[in-house]
Amino acid sequence: MIDFIRNSIALRQQRGKTASYVLNVDSEWGGGKSFFLKRLAEQLRAERHVVAEVNSWRDDHSDDPLVALMAEIDKALKPLFAKKNKIEAAWSAVKADGAKIAGRALLSAGKTALRRYVGAELDELMAEEGIESNSTSGEVIGEAINAVGKELETLTDKTADALIAKFAAASRSIDSFRKNMSHLVGALSQSEFKAPLFVLVDELDRCRPSYAVASLERVKHLFETNGVAFVFATDTAQLQHTIRGAYGGEFDGRAYLDRFFDRRYSFETPNLQRFVRERLAGFDSSKVTSFGDDWQRIVVSCFEAQKISSLRTIGRILDIVETTVLAWRYPEKIELCSLLFLSSCYEQTHEFDVRFAQHFLGAWVIQDRTKTQPAFIDLANVAGTVIQKARNLREAVTPPHNQRDVSLNHDPVEEYIISVFAPEFNRKNPGFGAPSVQSELPALIRCAGRTTGQR
Ligand SMILES: Nc1ncnc2c1ncn2[C@@H]1O[C@H](COP(=O)(O)OP(=O)(O)O)[C@@H](O)[C@H]1O
Ligand SMILES: [Mg+2]
Repeated sequence: MIDFIRNSIALRQQRGKTASYVLNVDSEWGGGKSFFLKRLAEQLRAERHVVAEVNSWRDDHSDDPLVALMAEIDKALKPLFAKKNKIEAAWSAVKADGAKIAGRALLSAGKTALRRYVGAELDELMAEEGIESNSTSGEVIGEAINAVGKELETLTDKTADALIAKFAAASRSIDSFRKNMSHLVGALSQSEFKAPLFVLVDELDRCRPSYAVASLERVKHLFETNGVAFVFATDTAQLQHTIRGAYGGEFDGRAYLDRFFDRRYSFETPNLQRFVRERLAGFDSSKVTSFGDDWQRIVVSCFEAQKISSLRTIGRILDIVETTVLAWRYPEKIELCSLLFLSSCYEQTHEFDVRFAQHFLGAWVIQDRTKTQPAFIDLANVAGTVIQKARNLREAVTPPHNQRDVSLNHDPVEEYIISVFAPEFNRKNPGFGAPSVQSELPALIRCAGRTTGQR
């Protein structure tokens, strides 16, 4: 990945283009973006790149994303200043321009800021344009700027002159900002650091629409400069919605984003097996029962059956699973499929439907390796049957009439289910209608979900 970006930048340089790069790492919520960026930052630093990490969501209270961007670059460069005066000088030049540009941005930042520049005229301007003056929403501000722009041509008083001067100065600053930024990277690469400078941006899809758009515009206009690479980690479908929110219903968010991103990168399907293995390293599997010994495989199959791929969601479900197992106080084992499907149901909907197996039609089937003859087992159905049968222990250990005497040809699922209930039946030898301990799972899971739930 790092080599890819470095090579792409080198290629652009050879072709006489600006040697910058904007990469979009696209994955769904919980897909591992933040995890990836943290690792990328570590690796880049180990390879002597300067890395600034920006969290847009945390910063979206600020008026101009440029301020937040510069603050993070500042933080990344500060440790180098002690030894490298040249770098500090180059960065100071960038900052001076940034301040001028952000000054201009104050115009778009809100009415209060705008008033600082144009004084009392603003209210009149806005009134003339029919703009509600006590609203501060993005569109109104946008309209206000347009209004100010239009009025600029006709206004002749000194407030307008001052405004024009600010605009002109800002345009000069943008050019000079870009130049100084590439000087900065030049200064960096003459020291022991490597170009490009990396700016990693996380959580852009979670911030205010106007802030997200402003961030992208800032990067496009200011940082398209030699030796700067941006990596935006976003749920890009979500970001498209956000952008539509800023521009209105029919706006083509995807085309808009394509203007900003040189490339999109998606993770390969996460390795669930490994994730589950690491995540459940200390799991007490002696308290659960399932087909054969390969309980990790069952866990993975259950998530695949439900098409749950967000690692964050899976992590939360496994929290519930672990807490429930810890709280289990019976000598009998918990039936693992039921535990997993019920925990998933609870995490996702905060409800159980005893007929929940029906929601997972098309469920995954796994091959039962414990049998010499291959048999395919629908885990969701097993889970549904176990929970249903748990209502009556006696019925649960009695195979259906037509299979009673055909012992060689038992349905493996039926056999499995009987094996889940038999130990308890033998211990208690219950009367008609007694429920199984498995029927307590929903209540325990609800309790575990409330303990671990992070919503
Ligand atoms: N490659 C990985 N290996 C192990 N755990 C991971 C991996 N990627 C993500 N995770 C874990 O999955 C969860 C969600 O990841 P996160 O980076 O926060 O998702 P996102 O930022 O895309 O919403 C976190 O608990 C994280 O530690
Ligand atoms: Mg994240």
